[in-house]
Amino acid sequence: LAAMADASGHRRHPTIQEQDDMTANTQRKYRADYQPPAYLIDDVALDFDIRDTGTRVRGQYQVRRNPDAAGAAALQLDGRDMQLHSVAIDGRALGADEYELGEHALVIAAPPSQFSLTIENEIDPEHNLALEGLYRSGDILCTQCEATGFSRITYFPDRPDVMSRYTTRIEADADQYPVLLANGNCVESGDAGAGRHYAVFEDPFAKPCYLFALVAGDLGMIRDSYTTASGREVDLRLYTEHGNEDQCDHAMASLKQAMAWDEDTYGLEYDLDSYVTVAVGSFNMGAMENKGLNVFNTACIFARADTATDGDFALVRDVVAHEYFHNYTGNRVTCRDWFQLSLKEGLTVYREHQFAIDQGSPGVTRIGQVRTIREVQFPEDGGPRAHPVRPESYVEMNNFYTITVYEKGAEVIRMIAQMAGRDAFLRAVRHYLDKHDGQAVTIEDFVVAMEESTGLDLDQFRRWYAQAGTPRLTLTTEFDQNQLRVRLTQSTPATPDQSEKQPFDIPVALAMFDAQGLPVGEPQVLRLNQAEQQWQFDGFDAQPTISALRGFTAPVKLDYPQSDAELARLMAFDSDPVSRWDAAQALYLNTLVADARARGADQPPAAAPQALFDAIESLLATPPDDRALLAEMLTLPSETRIGEQFDATDVFAVNGARRALKQEIARRFTGLFETLRDAHAASGPYVFDVAESGRRRVFALALDYLAAIDAPGIRDHALAVYNDADNMTDRMAALGALRDLTGDARTRAMTDFAERWADYPLVMDKWLRLQASTRRDDAIAQVRALLEDARFDFTNPNRVRALLGGFARGNGEAFHHADGQGYQLLADEILRLDRLNPQLAAALAGLLAPWRRYASPQGTAMREQLTRLAASDLSANTGEIVAAGLA
Ligand code: PHE
Ligand code: ZN
Repeated sequence: LAAMADASGHRRHPTIQEQDDMTANTQRKYRADYQPPAYLIDDVALDFDIRDTGTRVRGQYQVRRNPDAAGAAALQLDGRDMQLHSVAIDGRALGADEYELGEHALVIAAPPSQFSLTIENEIDPEHNLALEGLYRSGDILCTQCEATGFSRITYFPDRPDVMSRYTTRIEADADQYPVLLANGNCVESGDAGAGRHYAVFEDPFAKPCYLFALVAGDLGMIRDSYTTASGREVDLRLYTEHGNEDQCDHAMASLKQAMAWDEDTYGLEYDLDSYVTVAVGSFNMGAMENKGLNVFNTACIFARADTATDGDFALVRDVVAHEYFHNYTGNRVTCRDWFQLSLKEGLTVYREHQFAIDQGSPGVTRIGQVRTIREVQFPEDGGPRAHPVRPESYVEMNNFYTITVYEKGAEVIRMIAQMAGRDAFLRAVRHYLDKHDGQAVTIEDFVVAMEESTGLDLDQFRRWYAQAGTPRLTLTTEFDQNQLRVRLTQSTPATPDQSEKQPFDIPVALAMFDAQGLPVGEPQVLRLNQAEQQWQFDGFDAQPTISALRGFTAPVKLDYPQSDAELARLMAFDSDPVSRWDAAQALYLNTLVADARARGADQPPAAAPQALFDAIESLLATPPDDRALLAEMLTLPSETRIGEQFDATDVFAVNGARRALKQEIARRFTGLFETLRDAHAASGPYVFDVAESGRRRVFALALDYLAAIDAPGIRDHALAVYNDADNMTDRMAALGALRDLTGDARTRAMTDFAERWADYPLVMDKWLRLQASTRRDDAIAQVRALLEDARFDFTNPNRVRALLGGFARGNGEAFHHADGQGYQLLADEILRLDRLNPQLAAALAGLLAPWRRYASPQGTAMREQLTRLAASDLSANTGEIVAAGLA
């Protein structure tokens, strides 16, 4: 089933009967169609009776007519994939003719204006592989309700603007499920007879149903406590399957860091007596902020020196903080409807970013954020799935948990914070939270609160929420008679649903340097809010070197052709680390783009200029103190970033150009890289901190350059590193270096790894990823073999992402092979997966959708697979992505 957009723009509300005729929930929903709920539910009492054969759910709701709602008075309860047993109003069971039951809803035509509704139904968590609603992950039963998973648990208005206080009773076998958890405080527990027990939980805060959570299982636990600034003692517990407890300490420490940071920075204190986290192995996303009971993917909790890399440690720290920050930005103030998702996600990602910057190296942390925008968000914004930070319509909400809503949303907040200044921004967020505490609100409400508190005029700025696409800026200068004129223009390319774009309000930071690298004047922030603007600066002795869009003040593409000499100068002395790195990237890009273009046109490769090698030489001679910054500055732009410079990417030309430059740099500086490697080798036990992880990054980078030219002795050296390392970061550095080098050293390291970590599925994901991304002629056959391997599990999203994501994203040469077999493999697996886990299948389909961004034969071969998918019976999730790709 393909998703259909109504081209005329005419919208209507299908009746239940029509909805059923459409077999799946494939009609498009529009932001402009929002209607307040006809009924509100103040109190919810849920009773779960967990049995091997299925789970009985009994819900009792105190319902009343919404005084703010006009129009029809029918009560619409969403629900799917479950068996209804009974419906009663004020204790009287309704006959089947007193309500209408469809495949996705139960409607009671004219209920009283205030009543108690009781619903009994049965669900089947054991066969729920979509990982939405109540499902099994190993020994654990858990729930996932965002966005609309609650309607797989019981019939309920599954929309975030219905907020209720929940009481949850869980009853289950005491041996199989010794731990029973739900949101809030446990107010009662005990024996239920026949080997069963029960527990009752009360959550004092009204919440939307997407924040509901329940967990039952035989779980191990670590425990700690935190005392808030005002003296509340919070019980912190982290549950996981037995045997994993020793991988959870870093997550617990991170939680306490996050709690302290939110108090210090925003004055926000935790509001319940317990904060419980459960780590499960099968989870579609990273983690979920359910009130007082977070459920996490183990990949975002587990971190032990020998099993997790520095990158994993940082990920765990940041995701733990992100979910904690949601307690205010998301839970206390939530979204009115799902079009407002960035209200909670953009703001929470921004808070997470600031937290990460405060914990790590500020410059390098920011560089990582900029890279994500450029390498992941810009491609989304320039492809078939481009949508505004606040989307106008969707078919399947799960398809809109995107990099645009999350990360571009955070950049938009960052621009507001910059315009307001730090303290004014923090005050404004407090104002927003105070004003709307306990409410479900909109992005517009947030912007209004920002304006009220800061005094900023955000009228034009609002377009950042409404218009999709990445603005393109050009900067040109004229220098004459001690005067510098800077001209900026902006335009934004059309996106699928918006052909005309209005100018954005864009902060562009600028600094100037003289030939000695000394700053000329103060750095400025220009505010570009028209299609074209000009600024004048006076009093120069000589033409300065300009550092533009310093620190990436706005999520835009800037065309400002600078000479290699200017870039080398900025790379050497720009005072902002992000800009130093950016100058290095631009310098590399100049060469890489020219060479990729030449290769694509079957011309002789373009050589790199001497200025580039001179810049690297002086960087290595006087490296920045921040070692991670050195590593970033020596890392070439990714294939994706290079490809972004072309209308249609020639994957092989881009890969060829990047590999050639990397090898050329490695050849010229072999001795220096060896010195760098030896100077940055481990000298003591593993510690996760800024200095040590920076050192390890430089070490890994040096190994990687040396491996790129198979430098003499590098194989044995890498194998020795692998064998001697006390931590996963260095082990992965060694394996990464060996990955594409055939021979004994590689085989021995890979074999050892697979044996050593056989019982650690998350660690084996690293192995799967390495296998899938290895350059080899039979790469596709290898991936097909791994799909059948016992270490792979098609029902686990982490395994699927490691193997198929590792292949499609990490093995350009095989995935994009001209024979189209890589695309075919991916499409085969999408079809297989779509029957089990549509959300994950849709995410994989997103890799084929931007076929127009690839030169042919690749582009056409990708489209062929999309067409093949479109001809199949697809879920609403995957159907929407495929349709967007073919539109
Ligand atoms: N709300 C979660 C977060 O951003 C992400 C999520 C979305 C998890 C949907 C599960 C399902 O932290
Ligand atoms: Zn979030």
